[in-house]
This record gives sequence, C-alpha cells and structure tokens, in this order.
Amino acid sequence: MDKINIGIIGCGHWGPNFIRNFSQIKGVSVKYACDLNPDRLSHIKGLYPQIDTTRDYLQILKDPKIGAVVISTPAVTHFRLAKEALERNKHVLVEKPITSDVDSAAKLVRIAGRYKRILMVGHTFKFNSGINKLRGLIRSGKIGRVYYIYSRRTNLGPIRRDIGAAGDLATHDISVFNYLLDKSPLSVSARGQNYLGHELEDVSFITLSFPGKVLAHMHVSWLDPKKVREIVVVGSKRMIIFDDLNPDAPISIYDKKVMRKKFRQDYDSFKEFQMIIHSGKVDTPKIKMEEPLKRECLHFVECIRKDRTPLTDGRDGLEVLKVLAAIQDSLSRNGAEVLLKE
Ligand SMILES: NC(=O)c1ccc[n+]([C@@H]2O[C@H](COP(=O)([O-])OP(=O)(O)OC[C@H]3O[C@@H](n4cnc5c(N)ncnc54)[C@H](O)[C@@H]3O)[C@@H](O)[C@H]2O)c1
Repeated sequence: MDKINIGIIGCGHWGPNFIRNFSQIKGVSVKYACDLNPDRLSHIKGLYPQIDTTRDYLQILKDPKIGAVVISTPAVTHFRLAKEALERNKHVLVEKPITSDVDSAAKLVRIAGRYKRILMVGHTFKFNSGINKLRGLIRSGKIGRVYYIYSRRTNLGPIRRDIGAAGDLATHDISVFNYLLDKSPLSVSARGQNYLGHELEDVSFITLSFPGKVLAHMHVSWLDPKKVREIVVVGSKRMIIFDDLNPDAPISIYDKKVMRKKFRQDYDSFKEFQMIIHSGKVDTPKIKMEEPLKRECLHFVECIRKDRTPLTDGRDGLEVLKVLAAIQDSLSRNGAEVLLKE
C-alpha cells in the first residue's frame, strides 16, 4: 500500500483538526502545513515537529510526492487554491462552502473531472453518526410522512468577515436537509440583518420549500446568547430531535402525533373529524458516536485508494452552493421567494 502524502493549507481554527485526524490514519503522512500567518505555523510546529511548515502553498503543490491537499482557508480563497491543486494533479478536500459562487464551483467540478482527481467538500454532518441515524429513521418510515423540519444553529461567535452567517452556518443545514430528505428545495425565502457593522448578515431566518409540501426552516446566528445545534423533524407518526451538543443521546424519538378520526354525526354520513392527540414515550437510541471529521478524513483516503466518488463530492458541494446562492439572493431582496426548480 503506497503512502499518501498530504499537505494542509490553512491552519487557523479548523485546519489543525485535519492535521490531527490525518496524522492518525495508517498509510497517510501529513508532510506540510501551510498558513500565511507565521504564528499559526509556530503553533503547528510546536505540536508536530516532523511536519514541514510553509507560508507558500505553491511549495506543497510543486512537490511531486504530495498526492492530496486539504484546503481549510476562508471561502473566498477556495476556488483559486483548489483549481491550482487539481491542475497539479492533487486530490482535493476543500472545506465548505466549496467556493463563493456557483459558476466557480461548477468549474471546479469540471476541472476535477478533466484531471480525474478526487474533489471532496467538507460537509462534515454527512459523517455524523447522529445525522445518519436520523436519516435511517426517516427512510425506514418509522416517523411516517415528514411534515416539516427546522434547525437552529446559534451561538455568540465565531464572527466571520468573509461570508455572512448564512454562508457560514446554513451551509451545514442545507447539506443536512438535502441529505435527510434525499431532495433539494424548490424555493427559498430568507430575511437577515447585520448588526455588527459589516456588510454581511449576522443572523438569518430562512424558509425552504421541499417537494411533497415539506416545509423547512433554518435559524442561523453568531449573535445569540445560547449555543444551539439542533434539528427537529416532525412526522405524521413520530417526531425527532437531533441535539448535536448532547453526544450521549443526540437523538430523541418522541412517540407523539395527532390523529384525525372521522366521527359520525348522523347515521348516513361522516362529516366531522376529531383531532386526537397521542403522546407516548421518548426513546433515545444508543448511537456509537465517533468524531465526524475522523470519518470524513477516512472517507477521503478510501476514495483516493479505491477511486470512489465521495459522498460529499464536488457535485454535492455545488448543489448546496446553488441553494446558498438562492438564499443570498433572497436576503438581498428582503425575503423575496427565489425559485430553484420549475
Ligand atoms: N466543516 C466544519 O464543521 C467547519 C468548521 C469550521 C470551519 N470550517 C471551514 O473551514 C475553513 C476555515 O475556517 P477557519 O474557522 O479555520 O478559519 P480561520 O480564519 O480561523 O483560518 C483560516 C486560515 O487560513 C489562512 N489562510 C488564508 N489564506 C491563505 C492562503 N492563501 N494560504 C495559506 N493560508 C491561508 C489564514 O491565515 C487563517 O489562519 C472555512 O471554509 C470554514 O467554513 C468548516
């Protein structure tokens, strides 16, 4: 088994998590860590003396021994870095969102195809055991027909300057909703506001319509008193809450529903319905939780070794970005409904 040599570009808040995870994978060697900020590089050198550090990403891309790179820099830089890496025959794992606009994301997908390289996007939640359990429950029919779904992703910070709260946070929820429902939305409508004195919004309230009358909503904010990472799915037979901040019991299945029963008003016809509320027990299934990023890194390596299409490939990243672009369009037009499909 040939060793895969990896370079990590971007060692800010998130990049070191890639270094840690890839360093623990058999047959993988993290050769380089790159950042423009020398302080970040000294930090990495202190933790991993064997890794070469550089401020110049081209040093990594020019090294023929490097087979793959991870791009964990701000979104505005993703396209240029990923394009150059693919064109130098490196497999690429780029953080979300894949790029900052739909055209460049589509270009990246084409370039990856032309160079026959793996292009994977860091939609981490698809590697989250709780989300996979939730998806399994929906697909099994256990919760009945999905009526509606909503998420809350709030906290005080971290505040970004390169993208707004929707671009940063809702990207996760779009990826998760598409994955849970196996569909992408038909339309979106979003309102947001910037309070902290920059151009992009700090909070957004986003409504999405999915096929089959499934209504969805996302509340994202980095200006909120409480850290919440929650998804609620309301179905005709059961209701589920996914709480990413509760690793011991991330999924709670509520045996709750409203039944419509016809009731006989006279002997010849059924005219009225009676709403009967059923409230049973709450089930918290045991879920073997593993760090989602570890599973994501292992998946990237497996796709390289076996020449497989990643679960979160460039096309998947592009689909998410199309929804995000529609959200941003709606935000700029005060909540106007933006259609994604006829
Ligand atoms: N999947 C997840 O759960 C998750 C979580 C956090 C962040 N992210 C994503 O990871 C990416 C990075 O986020 P972050 O929070 O670490 O940001 P950050 O600002 O903390 O770090 C980014 C780093 O990239 C460096 N950088 C910028 N341009 C560079 C270049 N040309 N060459 C080398 N280094 C460069 C900066 O100096 C900085 O240290 C973003 O795309 C973000 O959306 C994903």
